Amino acid sequence: MKSSDLFARAKTLMPGGVSSPVRAIKPNPFYVERAAGSHLATVDGADLIDCCLGYGPLILGHAHPVVREAIERQLEKGWLYGTPTPLELDLAGMITADHPAVDMVRFVSSGSEATMAAIRLARGYTGKQDIIKVEGGFHGAHDAVLVKAGSGATTLGVPDSAGVLADLVAHTRQVPYNDPEALETLLANDDVAAFILEPIMGNIGPVLPDGDYLADVREITAAHDVLLILDEVITGYRVGIGGAEVFYGVKPDLATFGKIIGGGL
Ligand SMILES: Cc1ncc(COP(=O)(O)O)c(C=O)c1O
Repeated sequence: MKSSDLFARAKTLMPGGVSSPVRAIKPNPFYVERAAGSHLATVDGADLIDCCLGYGPLILGHAHPVVREAIERQLEKGWLYGTPTPLELDLAGMITADHPAVDMVRFVSSGSEATMAAIRLARGYTGKQDIIKVEGGFHGAHDAVLVKAGSGATTLGVPDSAGVLADLVAHTRQVPYNDPEALETLLANDDVAAFILEPIMGNIGPVLPDGDYLADVREITAAHDVLLILDEVITGYRVGIGGAEVFYGVKPDLATFGKIIGGGL
Protein backbone atom coordinates (compact mmCIF):
# COMPACT_ATOMS: atom_id res chain seq x y z
CA MET A 1 0.00 0.00 0.00
CA LYS A 2 1.22 3.52 -0.79
CA SER A 3 1.67 6.27 1.83
CA SER A 4 -1.42 8.13 0.59
CA ASP A 5 -3.57 4.98 0.98
CA LEU A 6 -2.13 4.25 4.43
CA PHE A 7 -2.85 7.81 5.53
CA ALA A 8 -6.45 7.55 4.30
CA ARG A 9 -6.83 4.44 6.48
CA ALA A 10 -5.00 6.09 9.39
CA LYS A 11 -7.52 8.94 9.44
CA THR A 12 -10.28 6.42 10.13
CA LEU A 13 -8.35 4.94 13.05
CA MET A 14 -6.47 7.85 14.65
CA PRO A 15 -7.55 11.49 15.11
CA GLY A 16 -5.82 13.46 12.34
CA GLY A 17 -4.24 10.20 11.19
CA VAL A 18 -1.07 10.64 13.26
CA SER A 19 0.04 10.32 16.87
CA SER A 20 1.95 13.60 16.97
CA PRO A 21 1.39 16.95 15.23
CA VAL A 22 4.99 16.94 13.94
CA ARG A 23 4.10 13.96 11.75
CA ALA A 24 1.11 15.68 10.14
CA ILE A 25 2.89 16.40 6.86
CA LYS A 26 0.63 17.57 4.00
CA PRO A 27 -0.84 16.12 1.85
CA ASN A 28 0.19 12.95 3.72
CA PRO A 29 3.19 11.80 5.73
CA PHE A 30 5.50 9.25 4.12
CA TYR A 31 5.33 5.81 5.71
CA VAL A 32 8.58 4.04 6.49
CA GLU A 33 9.06 0.33 6.00
CA ARG A 34 12.60 -0.09 7.30
CA ALA A 35 15.73 1.83 8.17
CA ALA A 36 19.46 1.10 8.23
CA GLY A 37 22.37 3.40 8.97
CA SER A 38 21.53 6.87 7.70
CA HIS A 39 18.78 5.78 5.31
CA LEU A 40 15.02 5.31 5.48
CA ALA A 41 13.14 3.17 2.98
CA THR A 42 9.55 4.27 2.44
CA VAL A 43 6.64 2.09 1.41
CA ASP A 44 6.57 4.13 -1.81
CA GLY A 45 9.99 2.79 -2.78
CA ALA A 46 11.95 5.97 -1.96
CA ASP A 47 15.36 5.80 -0.32
CA LEU A 48 15.78 8.86 1.91
CA ILE A 49 18.76 10.19 3.85
CA ASP A 50 17.50 10.59 7.42
CA CYS A 51 18.64 13.91 8.87
CA CYS A 52 16.35 13.53 11.90
CA LEU A 53 17.40 10.12 13.29
CA GLY A 54 14.55 9.77 15.76
CA TYR A 55 15.01 13.41 16.87
CA GLY A 56 18.59 12.71 17.85
CA PRO A 57 18.90 9.55 19.93
CA LEU A 58 20.05 7.40 17.01
CA ILE A 59 23.51 8.94 17.00
CA LEU A 60 24.98 5.75 15.50
CA GLY A 61 22.27 5.55 12.86
CA HIS A 62 19.44 3.07 12.47
CA ALA A 63 19.91 -0.56 13.53
CA HIS A 64 23.62 -0.23 14.30
CA PRO A 65 24.88 -3.84 14.67
CA VAL A 66 26.55 -3.26 18.07
CA VAL A 67 23.36 -1.78 19.52
CA ARG A 68 21.17 -4.42 17.89
CA GLU A 69 23.28 -7.24 19.33
CA ALA A 70 23.09 -5.73 22.83
CA ILE A 71 19.31 -5.48 22.53
CA GLU A 72 19.09 -9.07 21.28
CA ARG A 73 21.20 -10.33 24.20
CA GLN A 74 18.87 -8.60 26.64
CA LEU A 75 15.69 -9.86 24.93
CA GLU A 76 16.78 -13.40 25.82
CA LYS A 77 16.45 -12.41 29.48
CA GLY A 78 13.01 -10.78 29.22
CA TRP A 79 12.12 -7.11 28.86
CA LEU A 80 9.80 -6.10 31.69
CA TYR A 81 10.34 -7.18 35.29
CA GLY A 82 8.36 -4.62 37.29
CA THR A 83 11.09 -4.87 39.93
CA PRO A 84 14.52 -3.26 40.28
CA THR A 85 17.31 -4.73 38.18
CA PRO A 86 21.11 -4.29 38.51
CA LEU A 87 21.20 -2.76 35.02
CA GLU A 88 19.41 0.37 36.21
CA LEU A 89 22.26 1.02 38.64
CA ASP A 90 24.80 0.75 35.83
CA LEU A 91 22.81 3.22 33.74
CA ALA A 92 22.31 5.66 36.63
CA GLY A 93 26.05 5.42 37.37
CA MET A 94 26.89 6.28 33.75
CA ILE A 95 24.57 9.29 33.75
CA THR A 96 25.95 10.69 37.02
CA ALA A 97 29.53 10.11 35.81
CA ASP A 98 28.85 12.03 32.59
CA HIS A 99 27.20 15.01 34.33
CA PRO A 100 28.95 16.71 37.26
CA ALA A 101 25.68 18.45 38.28
CA VAL A 102 23.71 15.20 38.42
CA ASP A 103 24.06 13.49 41.80
CA MET A 104 21.07 11.16 41.56
CA VAL A 105 18.71 9.93 38.88
CA ARG A 106 15.00 9.21 38.73
CA PHE A 107 13.96 7.12 35.72
CA VAL A 108 10.71 7.84 33.88
CA SER A 109 9.38 6.85 30.47
CA SER A 110 9.40 10.08 28.49
CA GLY A 111 10.71 13.62 28.37
CA SER A 112 7.25 14.91 29.27
CA GLU A 113 7.22 12.88 32.46
CA ALA A 114 10.73 14.08 33.28
CA THR A 115 9.82 17.77 33.04
CA MET A 116 6.54 17.17 34.87
CA ALA A 117 8.37 15.46 37.74
CA ALA A 118 11.11 18.11 37.84
CA ILE A 119 8.54 20.91 38.08
CA ARG A 120 6.62 19.06 40.81
CA LEU A 121 9.84 18.45 42.70
CA ALA A 122 10.82 22.13 42.42
CA ARG A 123 7.41 23.24 43.71
CA GLY A 124 7.50 20.73 46.55
CA TYR A 125 11.04 21.63 47.56
CA THR A 126 10.63 25.42 47.42
CA GLY A 127 7.01 25.55 48.61
CA LYS A 128 6.38 28.06 45.80
CA GLN A 129 3.81 27.77 43.00
CA ASP A 130 4.89 29.67 39.90
CA ILE A 131 7.26 28.47 37.23
CA ILE A 132 8.87 30.38 34.38
CA LYS A 133 9.43 29.00 30.91
CA VAL A 134 10.84 30.57 27.78
CA GLU A 135 8.45 31.80 25.09
CA GLY A 136 8.37 29.18 22.37
CA GLY A 137 10.10 26.63 24.59
CA PHE A 138 8.67 23.10 24.46
CA HIS A 139 8.84 20.76 27.42
CA GLY A 140 6.33 18.08 26.52
CA ALA A 141 2.61 17.48 26.60
CA HIS A 142 1.59 18.18 30.18
CA ASP A 143 -0.65 21.03 31.25
CA ALA A 144 1.79 23.28 33.11
CA VAL A 145 4.00 23.76 30.06
CA LEU A 146 1.36 23.78 27.31
CA VAL A 147 1.33 27.54 27.18
CA LYS A 148 1.50 29.75 24.10
CA ALA A 149 4.42 32.07 23.60
CA GLY A 150 3.45 35.41 25.12
CA SER A 151 4.59 38.88 24.23
CA GLY A 152 6.54 39.99 27.25
CA ALA A 153 8.02 39.24 30.61
CA THR A 154 4.84 39.85 32.53
CA THR A 155 2.60 37.84 30.23
CA LEU A 156 0.43 35.39 32.12
CA GLY A 157 0.14 31.90 30.71
CA VAL A 158 -2.67 31.29 28.24
CA PRO A 159 -3.61 27.64 27.60
CA ASP A 160 -2.38 26.27 24.28
CA SER A 161 -5.00 23.56 24.09
CA ALA A 162 -8.63 23.04 24.95
CA GLY A 163 -8.86 21.05 28.17
CA VAL A 164 -5.99 22.86 29.89
CA LEU A 165 -7.26 24.85 32.88
CA ALA A 166 -6.60 28.60 32.73
CA ASP A 167 -6.18 28.56 36.53
CA LEU A 168 -3.39 26.06 36.23
CA VAL A 169 -1.38 27.79 33.53
CA ALA A 170 -1.78 31.11 35.32
CA HIS A 171 1.12 29.75 37.39
CA THR A 172 3.29 29.46 34.27
CA ARG A 173 5.07 32.73 33.49
CA GLN A 174 7.15 33.37 30.39
CA VAL A 175 10.23 35.29 29.37
CA PRO A 176 11.94 35.69 25.99
CA TYR A 177 15.05 33.60 25.34
CA ASN A 178 18.43 35.34 25.56
CA ASP A 179 16.97 38.13 27.71
CA PRO A 180 18.43 37.99 31.23
CA GLU A 181 16.94 41.42 32.08
CA ALA A 182 13.40 40.11 31.48
CA LEU A 183 14.10 37.23 33.87
CA GLU A 184 15.54 39.59 36.47
CA THR A 185 12.53 41.92 36.21
CA LEU A 186 10.05 39.09 36.55
CA LEU A 187 11.84 37.58 39.54
CA ALA A 188 12.02 40.93 41.29
CA ASN A 189 8.22 40.91 41.53
CA ASP A 190 7.22 37.26 41.61
CA ASP A 191 7.46 34.25 43.88
CA VAL A 192 8.80 31.56 41.60
CA ALA A 193 9.75 27.91 42.22
CA ALA A 194 11.72 27.20 39.05
CA PHE A 195 12.91 28.44 35.69
CA ILE A 196 12.84 25.70 33.05
CA LEU A 197 14.60 26.18 29.74
CA GLU A 198 16.13 24.39 26.80
CA PRO A 199 19.78 25.49 27.02
CA ILE A 200 19.81 25.64 23.23
CA MET A 201 16.35 26.37 21.92
CA GLY A 202 15.40 23.42 19.75
CA ASN A 203 11.71 23.57 19.15
CA ILE A 204 11.59 26.90 17.30
CA GLY A 205 14.62 25.88 15.24
CA PRO A 206 18.03 25.91 16.87
CA VAL A 207 18.80 29.20 18.65
CA LEU A 208 22.09 29.36 20.55
CA PRO A 209 22.55 31.14 23.87
CA ASP A 210 24.08 34.61 23.39
CA GLY A 211 27.36 35.28 25.18
CA ASP A 212 26.98 34.71 28.92
CA TYR A 213 23.21 34.13 28.85
CA LEU A 214 23.29 30.75 30.60
CA ALA A 215 25.77 31.97 33.22
CA ASP A 216 23.56 35.04 33.81
CA VAL A 217 20.49 32.82 34.14
CA ARG A 218 22.30 30.71 36.73
CA GLU A 219 23.35 33.75 38.71
CA ILE A 220 19.92 35.40 38.62
CA THR A 221 18.00 32.25 39.60
CA ALA A 222 20.41 31.49 42.46
CA ALA A 223 20.10 35.06 43.76
CA HIS A 224 16.29 34.66 43.94
CA ASP A 225 16.26 31.11 45.38
CA VAL A 226 14.69 29.85 42.17
CA LEU A 227 15.65 26.37 40.97
CA LEU A 228 17.14 26.14 37.49
CA ILE A 229 15.87 23.19 35.44
CA LEU A 230 17.89 22.52 32.29
CA ASP A 231 15.72 20.60 29.86
CA GLU A 232 18.32 18.52 28.04
CA VAL A 233 15.81 16.34 26.18
CA ILE A 234 17.29 17.59 22.90
CA THR A 235 20.80 18.71 23.93
CA GLY A 236 21.67 15.78 26.24
CA TYR A 237 24.46 13.57 24.83
CA ARG A 238 24.14 15.48 21.51
CA VAL A 239 26.17 18.67 21.98
CA GLY A 240 28.65 16.56 23.93
CA ILE A 241 28.72 13.59 26.28
CA GLY A 242 27.89 15.88 29.22
CA GLY A 243 25.21 17.77 27.29
CA ALA A 244 24.80 21.55 27.48
CA GLU A 245 25.65 21.46 31.19
CA VAL A 246 29.27 20.55 30.45
CA PHE A 247 29.47 22.23 27.03
CA TYR A 248 28.50 25.63 28.45
CA GLY A 249 29.69 25.03 32.02
CA VAL A 250 26.33 25.78 33.64
CA LYS A 251 25.26 23.89 36.79
CA PRO A 252 21.50 23.32 36.97
CA ASP A 253 19.64 22.23 40.10
CA LEU A 254 17.64 19.71 38.07
CA ALA A 255 18.19 18.34 34.59
CA THR A 256 15.77 16.43 32.39
CA PHE A 257 16.65 13.96 29.66
CA GLY A 258 14.41 12.01 27.36
CA LYS A 259 14.65 9.67 24.42
CA ILE A 260 18.46 9.78 24.36
CA ILE A 261 18.64 7.78 27.60
CA GLY A 262 16.92 4.83 25.93
CA GLY A 263 18.89 5.28 22.72
CA GLY A 264 15.60 5.53 20.87
CA LEU A 265 13.86 2.63 22.63
C1 LIG B 1 13.08 20.05 24.97
C2 LIG B 1 12.02 18.99 25.10
N1 LIG B 1 11.53 18.68 26.32
C3 LIG B 1 10.60 17.71 26.50
C4 LIG B 1 10.11 17.00 25.42
C5 LIG B 1 9.09 15.93 25.63
O1 LIG B 1 9.67 14.69 25.46
P1 LIG B 1 8.77 13.40 25.11
O2 LIG B 1 8.33 13.57 23.68
O3 LIG B 1 9.70 12.23 25.29
O4 LIG B 1 7.64 13.37 26.08
C6 LIG B 1 10.59 17.27 24.13
C7 LIG B 1 10.11 16.51 22.97
O5 LIG B 1 10.58 16.60 21.87
C8 LIG B 1 11.57 18.29 23.96
O6 LIG B 1 12.06 18.60 22.75
